[in-house]
Amino acid sequence: MYPIKIFSGSANRPLADRVCQYLDQPMGKMIVEKFPDGESFCRIEEDVRGKDVFIIQPTCRPVNDTLMELLVMIDCCRRASADRITAVIPYFGYARQDRKDEGRVPISAKLCANLLECAGANRVVALDLHSAQIQGFFDIPLDHLSASPILDEYINSLGYSPDEVVVVSPDAGSIKRAVKHVEALGGSLAIIDKRRLSGSEVEQAHLIGGPIEGRVAFLFDDMISTGGSICGAAKVVKEMGAKKVIVAASHGILCGPAIERLQEAPIDQVVLSDTIPLLPEHHIPKIKVLSCAPILGEVIKRIHNHESISQMFKTLKFATGQYY
Ligand code: R5P
Repeated sequence: MYPIKIFSGSANRPLADRVCQYLDQPMGKMIVEKFPDGESFCRIEEDVRGKDVFIIQPTCRPVNDTLMELLVMIDCCRRASADRITAVIPYFGYARQDRKDEGRVPISAKLCANLLECAGANRVVALDLHSAQIQGFFDIPLDHLSASPILDEYINSLGYSPDEVVVVSPDAGSIKRAVKHVEALGGSLAIIDKRRLSGSEVEQAHLIGGPIEGRVAFLFDDMISTGGSICGAAKVVKEMGAKKVIVAASHGILCGPAIERLQEAPIDQVVLSDTIPLLPEHHIPKIKVLSCAPILGEVIKRIHNHESISQMFKTLKFATGQYY
């Protein structure tokens, strides 16, 4: 079998190192840097001819730079005759612009898919895409993973019994996700009616389902960006009598007023995965980060060995102790 080679862009090198550690593989040697005018550049420092190449790069902040860097890395590997190039994108930026919900706007998620294919990606691994339909924007295989097993494993380890738990979906778009968490954790289900007022402001007043009073509320979302959605939802359930509020999200974008909002919100703990690296100012006591490296590492191994990926979610447990 042709050998495996892992490379990392600059977006989240610690996560890529953890994946290499899981796989017991050295990180591929590649110089990734910027020209003085800000253009992205990379140079592979070893032979990749005929290799099975995986490039790990979330397209997180600064989104345009990390995306462009990923594209030049793919192009570079293609021109260096890699046998197969898999873009491992733990957080897929631009995903929220996935449809024309008003006139004269782009579908940026589709544009990103086109760019990745055009650059030379042969397959994509993504984790908790904002909407599952984005898979269809690609004409190459895409493995859509979730950090949920890791979040659920941690939340299970907190030891709450199902009859004291309510899983809350902070908006209608997250209902399917919440239902899966109810299946994994037990408890009842509640849904919050969220209306978006602007990019950073939302309005949440009505709640369907429950009960909430006296329960531990687990709020799951795909991402926390400005924190408006999750903090508003936390306020609703707290006012309705939840005794504890724990929120969990796969992607901690944490931009704008997010940290201030999370600090002030009636939230006891925020659990995130490490798809996006935290900035120094993000390290507040109530934020806990769990690594998704075991999931990514296992998937890379299985893609390389032509093994089933869906099967792994039925059989594997992901090291609950491995927190960063
Ligand atoms: C919305 O559809 C998403 O699932 C998130 O709830 C939202 O993007 C989070 O953004 P923010 O933290 O700015 O409310």
